[in-house]
Amino acid sequence: MIFRLVRYIFMKLSPEVAHRQTLLVLKAIRGLPFAGKLVKLIFGYKSKTLKTTVFGLEFDNPVGLAAGLDPNAELCDELSWFGFSFLDVGAITPLPEEGNPKPRIFPLIQDKALVNRIGLRNKGVSAAIENLKKSRGKAIISANIAHNLKSKTLEAIKEDYYRTFSMLYDFVDILTVNISFDSDVQKTSELAESILDMLLDLRICYDTYKPILIKVSPDMPREDLDKLLKYCMLSGVDGVVAGNATQSRDSLQTSKERINKIGKGFLSGAPLFRKNLALVRHIVEYTRDRLPVIACGGIMSPEQAQEMLDAGAALVEMLTGIIYEGPGLVKKTLKHLEKVKPSMDNQNS
Ligand SMILES: Cc1cc2nc3c(=O)[nH]c(=O)nc-3n(C[C@H](O)[C@H](O)[C@H](O)COP(=O)(O)O)c2cc1C
Repeated sequence: MIFRLVRYIFMKLSPEVAHRQTLLVLKAIRGLPFAGKLVKLIFGYKSKTLKTTVFGLEFDNPVGLAAGLDPNAELCDELSWFGFSFLDVGAITPLPEEGNPKPRIFPLIQDKALVNRIGLRNKGVSAAIENLKKSRGKAIISANIAHNLKSKTLEAIKEDYYRTFSMLYDFVDILTVNISFDSDVQKTSELAESILDMLLDLRICYDTYKPILIKVSPDMPREDLDKLLKYCMLSGVDGVVAGNATQSRDSLQTSKERINKIGKGFLSGAPLFRKNLALVRHIVEYTRDRLPVIACGGIMSPEQAQEMLDAGAALVEMLTGIIYEGPGLVKKTLKHLEKVKPSMDNQNS
């Protein structure tokens, strides 16, 4: 109740301020003795029945945090206190990026949604590595990697992914390729294939095997998506994050006037759920369940997380749901999933 009131006031002021304040609070309490224990006591939830193995990695539970909240991998320990079994940190680029001018995150409170045009904003791969070195949390870490905006040619873009991937490889558990959709170098699926080809070749050079995932957008034309899925199955890409925020503004309750005033940006949160559920269903069906899917987009309740898992997703991740419902959403979801697990197991058998 108190969280909801504080969140409402902050969201009215500015979601970016709310975001920054939350991170500052987490940074401030990290040094306090027992802070982690207390937060874990309130928000954490452990259950052996929720453990699941995906990509050859053992996850404590199927719920993770989507990319965007911790672009510099500064808060891996603190975020794992809230019960997430995995964290997608980033997007991380080789060199720092400032992001677009503010304001760049807009709440659509009636719709339980956000429009963001934050762009890439992070301190670069070296800073992320320094933070990852200090991290001792138990959550599985996925690095969401992207290219710098000044890299415009295919060669330059590939070089950026090569650099970020090779520098981060020893410091994270999973590498997730985030393709910049405004890139006009090539069609998205071709660009993705070209980058993934290079990274799959590079992975052979390492002693340890780390899963490589690709994050796909719900706005990607189905033909392109299917081509990319076929490629992933043939090439050895380990899985798909489905999906991202959307550019669509369909079925919103917020007035057209306000939507037009906000202008360009990516929509996340509640209105995205049905679209991304359909995307997950399509991928599971198309790949005949041969490519593990992390479902993402519009998951605002435990029941929606369960729907994504019922649709065939191996794991789920959330972001806007946490901003609207608070970090208690993770525990609520885990308790719910534990309760329905026997019936889910029966369905799958
Ligand atoms: C402020 C903000 C920043 C984001 N930054 C990234 C990012 O850097 N990389 C990425 O792959 N997705 C990013 N996303 C997309 C989220 O990871 C997620 O895919 C999307 O918001 C849909 O999930 P949700 O409805 O649970 O928020 C961002 C989303 C928001 C709201």
